[in-house]
Amino acid sequence: MIELAGVEKIYKRGAEEVHALRGIDLVISVAEFVSIVGPSGAGKTSLMHILGCLDLPTRGSVKIGPMRAEHMTEKELVGTRRKKIGFVFQQFYLIPGLSVFDNVRLPAVFSRRPAQKGEIESLLEMVGLQNRTHHLPGQLSGGEMQRVAIARALVNTPEILLADEPTGNLDTENSEKIFGLLKSLHLRGYTVVMVTHNQELAGRADRVVTLKDGRIVKS
Ligand SMILES: Nc1ncnc2c1ncn2[C@@H]1O[C@H](COP(=O)(O)OP(=O)(O)O)[C@@H](O)[C@H]1O
Ligand SMILES: [Mg+2]
Repeated sequence: MIELAGVEKIYKRGAEEVHALRGIDLVISVAEFVSIVGPSGAGKTSLMHILGCLDLPTRGSVKIGPMRAEHMTEKELVGTRRKKIGFVFQQFYLIPGLSVFDNVRLPAVFSRRPAQKGEIESLLEMVGLQNRTHHLPGQLSGGEMQRVAIARALVNTPEILLADEPTGNLDTENSEKIFGLLKSLHLRGYTVVMVTHNQELAGRADRVVTLKDGRIVKS
C-alpha cells in the first residue's frame, strides 16, 4: 500500500544540512499494524510525514498505491492526504472553540464533503464519546481529547491511520485505552502506523520498526 525505497530526507538549516533519514526501505501493507520506535531525533516524525505525504523525500521514491508521490502535483498530494490518510498527533490539535462534533466534522468541511450527522455520531460512538458530542475540548480529559482526534482522523474514511506518539501526553491508563482503540480500529481493517516511546505498547503491534540515526536498524 505504501512503499518507500531509498528514502533520504535532508533538512537545510541555514548552511547546515541535517540528514534526518538516510536510506529507508519500508513497505506498509494493507491492514497491517506497525509500530515505529527509536530515540528522539532518530527520524520517526520525518518518516511519518513522508508516509503521509505531508512532506516529500530529498531522494528516493514513495509509492502510495499505484501513485508515486514525487510525481504528484501539489493538488494531487493534498487530495491524497485528505482522502487516504488520517493523522493523529501527540498534541491533539483540536479547535478550542468548536464542539467535539464540529471538530470531528472539520476535515469533511475542508474536503467540501457534506458529512451526515449520523456519520459523525457513529464515529463518536466508535471511539466511545457518544456522550460528549456537544462538549468543548477544554471540558474533556487528555484521553478523551485524543479520542476526538482519532475520530476526526477517520472522518474522510482514510485507508491508513498514522499516529505520531498518540499517547505521549497521556498517563498509563489513558495510553492503554488509546492503544486499545487503535488496536480495535486495526481489527476493523484499518492500516495503522504508530510511533511510540512505549516499548511495551510497541511490542503489541504486528511489527516493530526500529529507527536510529535515520536508518532502520531492526524491522
Ligand atoms: N523542519 C526541520 N528542519 C531542520 N531539521 C529538522 C526538521 N525536522 C526535523 N529535523 C531534524 O531531523 C532529525 C530527525 O527529527 P525527527 O524526524 O523529528 O525525529 P524524531 O521524531 O525521531 O524525534 C533531528 O535531528 C531534527 O532536529
Ligand atoms: Mg518525533
